[in-house]
Amino acid sequence: MPRGPLIAGNWKMHKTIPESIQFLDALFPILKSGDEKHVYLAVPFTALAATSQHAASKSVSIGAQTMHYETQGAYTGEISSKMLLDAGASFTLIGHSERRQFFGCTNKDVNMTAKKALSEGLTPIICIGESLQQREAGDTEAFLETQIQEGLKGFSSNEIEKLVLAYEPIWAIGTGQTATPDLAEKTHKHCRAILAKYWSPSTAEAVPILYGGSVKPDNIASLLKQPNIDGALIGGASLDPKLFIEIIQISRKTYS
Ligand code: PGA
Repeated sequence: MPRGPLIAGNWKMHKTIPESIQFLDALFPILKSGDEKHVYLAVPFTALAATSQHAASKSVSIGAQTMHYETQGAYTGEISSKMLLDAGASFTLIGHSERRQFFGCTNKDVNMTAKKALSEGLTPIICIGESLQQREAGDTEAFLETQIQEGLKGFSSNEIEKLVLAYEPIWAIGTGQTATPDLAEKTHKHCRAILAKYWSPSTAEAVPILYGGSVKPDNIASLLKQPNIDGALIGGASLDPKLFIEIIQISRKTYS
């Protein structure tokens, strides 16, 4: 099975229910059968049920942007895997840098949350990435190794092969400053080598690794041509159906 291309939109704290439906109506005409493996949308919790229902017979996967690792309980404001499944989600982002930066998400949280998501049949998209300061200090490789090793500690090869990794350098998110294809490829290759080191080369080969950080129609092709880049996690450009559709169409032509 090919690892990609996987084009995942991350709407963050954007879009009401009517806006979400309007977006889907613009997207539906270009979807092809089987695209639920290639086109993902991480929508706000409030739009999850409505978008899942609206997209029920269409080839697009709808998911969440985070979840809690407990099944239920006194966790005011949190959402469980059971609730996500009930609302129609098939995947969830875990450990996005904004969750780590603003909401205290740690590698241990990522670990427990991803474990829970996998046990419930939700595909985790695990986000990792270094800050500018870490990149400039030459700490990127060691930092990513810690994020992967602690975030996925105790997982079987079988579990690893069911998840998606998203490498998103924090300095490239929402800044218009994308990593060059060479730099992104080098880092993706490093992430795959870490998976091979802690699990096995064949497990490492099975995991789709997405790039994220200011992906747009004009840079997606050069990124997807890199052998270790299997798709993209897209914030800003996923809010406009025209741009998102353009990215999907380019990905079909460039990924091999
Ligand atoms: P961006 O966001 O495409 O707006 O840089 C990417 C992300 O945070 O997932």
